[in-house]
Amino acid sequence: MKTAVYPGSFDPMTNGHVDLVRRGCRIFDRVLVAVLVNGDKVPLFTVDERIAMVRSVFRRQPQVRVKAFSGLLVDFLRAEGANVVVRGLRVMSDFEYEFQMALMNRKLDPEVETIFLTPKEELSYLSSRLVKEVHGLGGDVSGLVPSLVLRALNRKLPTAS
Ligand code: PNS
Repeated sequence: MKTAVYPGSFDPMTNGHVDLVRRGCRIFDRVLVAVLVNGDKVPLFTVDERIAMVRSVFRRQPQVRVKAFSGLLVDFLRAEGANVVVRGLRVMSDFEYEFQMALMNRKLDPEVETIFLTPKEELSYLSSRLVKEVHGLGGDVSGLVPSLVLRALNRKLPTAS
């Protein structure tokens, strides 16, 4: 059983993330979506909300597991018996950050390999940050996030009941 760990903030999960998990499932026996508990930024959704949304999106796919993680990603991988990290590369501007993370993780644990997958080109401009910004300003993000995420975003709006 080969498990790939797909770590991220997923605040919230976008259709770009969903696409990436599906691509990972074609290569690995299992994809474990690892939701970061506390990053640098204050998240819009709590870790429990983020996990519940990811679980719900993949509820019919037993290949996909979802767990929270905190601390070093390499420690989480070790605890899960995994040595592969999957990350998405959308545009060139992702490259520097992703390259640094991959090399730092390799420095921390030489057994860890990072594999980059590219999402569908029509999703390549998408990010959780942009989705939150556009939605918060009244823009239409339907088609960019799973419908249950859109409903959760609507509930977060100050005007939502
Ligand atoms: O979705 P994001 O915010 O780009 O994901 C970033 C994430 C969670 C992959 C990264 O911040 C991370 O792995 N954090 C855990 C702490 C850690 O291990 N840091 C050293 C790796 S460079």
